[in-house]
Amino acid sequence: MIETKKLSLFLVILISMISCHKQTQNLSETEISNDPMVELLAKMTLEEKIGQMTQYNGFWDSTGPAPKEGDAKEKYDHLKSGRVGSMLNVSGVKEVRKLQEIAVKETRLGIPIIFGLDVIHGHKTLAPIPLAEVASWDLDAIEQSARMGAEEASARGINWTFAPMVDISRDARWGRVMEGAGEDPYLGSLVGKARVRGFQGTDLSKNNTIAATAKHFAGYGFAESGRDYNAADVGTVTLFNTILPPFKACVDENVATVMNAFNTLNGIPATGDEYLQRDILKGEWGFEGFIISDWGSGAEMIAHGFAKDLEHAAILAANAGSDMDMESYAFVKHLATAVDSGHVDIKHIDDSVLRILRIKEALGLFDDPYRYCDKEREKTVPYHEDHATLVRDMAKKSIVLLKNEDRTLPLSTEQKNIVVIGDLAQEKTSPLGSWRIGSDDGTAISVIEGLEAKDVKFKYKSGPALISQPASFINEVIINKDDRTGFDAAVKAAKKADVVVMVLGEHGFQSGEGRSRTDLGFPGMQQELLEAVKEVNDNIVLVVMSGRPLVLTWAEENVPAIVQAWQLGTESGNAIADVLFGEYNPSGKLPMTFPRDVGQVPIYYNKLNTGRPGPSDLVFWSHYIDESNNPLYPFGYGLSYTQYKYSGLKAVASGPKSITVDLTVSNVGEMAGEEVVQLYIQDKVASVSRPIKELKGFEKIMLQPGESKVVSFELTEQELGFFNTKGTFIFEPGEFTVMVGPNSRDLSTTTIEL
Ligand code: GLC
Repeated sequence: MIETKKLSLFLVILISMISCHKQTQNLSETEISNDPMVELLAKMTLEEKIGQMTQYNGFWDSTGPAPKEGDAKEKYDHLKSGRVGSMLNVSGVKEVRKLQEIAVKETRLGIPIIFGLDVIHGHKTLAPIPLAEVASWDLDAIEQSARMGAEEASARGINWTFAPMVDISRDARWGRVMEGAGEDPYLGSLVGKARVRGFQGTDLSKNNTIAATAKHFAGYGFAESGRDYNAADVGTVTLFNTILPPFKACVDENVATVMNAFNTLNGIPATGDEYLQRDILKGEWGFEGFIISDWGSGAEMIAHGFAKDLEHAAILAANAGSDMDMESYAFVKHLATAVDSGHVDIKHIDDSVLRILRIKEALGLFDDPYRYCDKEREKTVPYHEDHATLVRDMAKKSIVLLKNEDRTLPLSTEQKNIVVIGDLAQEKTSPLGSWRIGSDDGTAISVIEGLEAKDVKFKYKSGPALISQPASFINEVIINKDDRTGFDAAVKAAKKADVVVMVLGEHGFQSGEGRSRTDLGFPGMQQELLEAVKEVNDNIVLVVMSGRPLVLTWAEENVPAIVQAWQLGTESGNAIADVLFGEYNPSGKLPMTFPRDVGQVPIYYNKLNTGRPGPSDLVFWSHYIDESNNPLYPFGYGLSYTQYKYSGLKAVASGPKSITVDLTVSNVGEMAGEEVVQLYIQDKVASVSRPIKELKGFEKIMLQPGESKVVSFELTEQELGFFNTKGTFIFEPGEFTVMVGPNSRDLSTTTIEL
């Protein structure tokens, strides 16, 4: 298959070198007819080719009357004249079929459209937000979650998702950390691969698999100051060792498409970055899919001061390797002129178009353009009861137990006099998170409902409302800062309670795109409410709902039990109740560091030592004078209702560039549980200063009370090597520290010389 592809790409380049775009090719018919996509390309006019490189947002109720004016009419006319290759934000078999019929039946060549949508963590049934899922460290569960999303979305006509987002980020101020896999490239790479497998399955041509997208290429998660869309400046070592590995992992997993990014990376807008897109992605890595721009990012090169106008933006994007233009209108309006004037070589156009046609071919859309328009599937698949079970399981595994003093948890369902406090405890939309385009408001099981489902007796007092106006994907969330209704009643009820369950945190639309924060505390009056309740009752179980790490320092010092419950999707309340009442022993581990103070951000575990790591009696070492360097909760941290013991760490060289690591983990508590055993290394001396520790292996194991298991890891050159300042991957012999433990802080260590 790959040989055929290479041959056909060669043919395309040969054709475009020999013939200008309006003449037919002068290659023998035999050579062209070997590959239907090349044959189709040879028939296309330049306008039709550029049409394939154009993606429009869904612009009207396609089952209604054709639009008569404005943008929608122009898009409709382009659709009918074969100048639209893809659409996004159209879903539903009826709508998709209607548009597909126009493309297939009313255009000259009948090339089917590919329909894209953000299927980020489910579609109708929602799994936990991606960052929460990663806290499960369960790659199979993560893959199955993506598989479910593909099943549901494909049943509604979608054949392409703009996921997984694989942007590494160390900055919880950035709202899109909720969409990724956290701060670590090793974990982020494995999660990216699992999600690509889940979405794409083993056969893209099946009607329940969808093309995946690794996004946003590249460096979007390193936005300066955590402010979305801001510039990213990183050196080669960070680019190659931290930012690029998850994208390379997705390319190795045959991801169908890559989406570029809004940001400049080292001064160059990603959409116009030839080094990133042509030299690295398509060149060095041999990526054979296509690159789609992010929404309007082509046109945004004007605002970046990189393009002087839309025509210039079209030239820059096409020459830099962007293959499809999402809602910039740059290609559809200016690319033909750019080719005619020689500013863009037709070979780039032909390469882009062939890449796009190939993905459509792989999806089976040429065999059957209506393959994803199965009305019977649409009636049942998006609401399948197995999906509720799947996302509840995923949600339980995503919960992280951060504190459990004096075994406050688990609670007994016989527990008397429970008071539940917090507006988020009744929320049925917020737990769905911000990236839930396909799902419906109010479909999450709330915490209240989860407790009721277990016949738990409790009183509920919401306290003040968290938001003072309805929230939405595109508008600012208006946090209630002055309406104290419910505050006193909640505190009064807490006073008489035996245990108070407080559900506090962010609204689901306070994280995600365009949602950067400078304050990582509880929004609104929640912190004041927490402290007021603490005044009257010490026995508080704090359940935190958020799309990012929050600053929980006061709670850590004043509250006996803390549970990180993210935004857990449709089965949120049931999963939280399962953990609070011990039906599930929490096993989650943090995929991002939780700071003590926002002033420490960006903060991450795999940091460099610096020349003055300290501590010292004098001030001349790398530290803050007003806060510790240490996080509140480190990467990989999470407690259990049972206790585990690590012993017998051994590391031996199994070759000149490999190490075998063995250790024993025992469950020394009274409850069965799953433990994520983590393996870190440090390359003690290297030609590039290396992090004090790097995750290079993990295994999630189930242990019955009293049970022990030997866990083994193999470290190879792939794990022990690194990219140097030239972006070259190297291995250097020398001393390595090998560390194992339940998180990135509490580690048993040994050293070994290679
Ligand atoms: C958005 C996001 C991108 C998403 C695209 C389509 O602006 O940046 O992640 O896939 O537009 O919705």
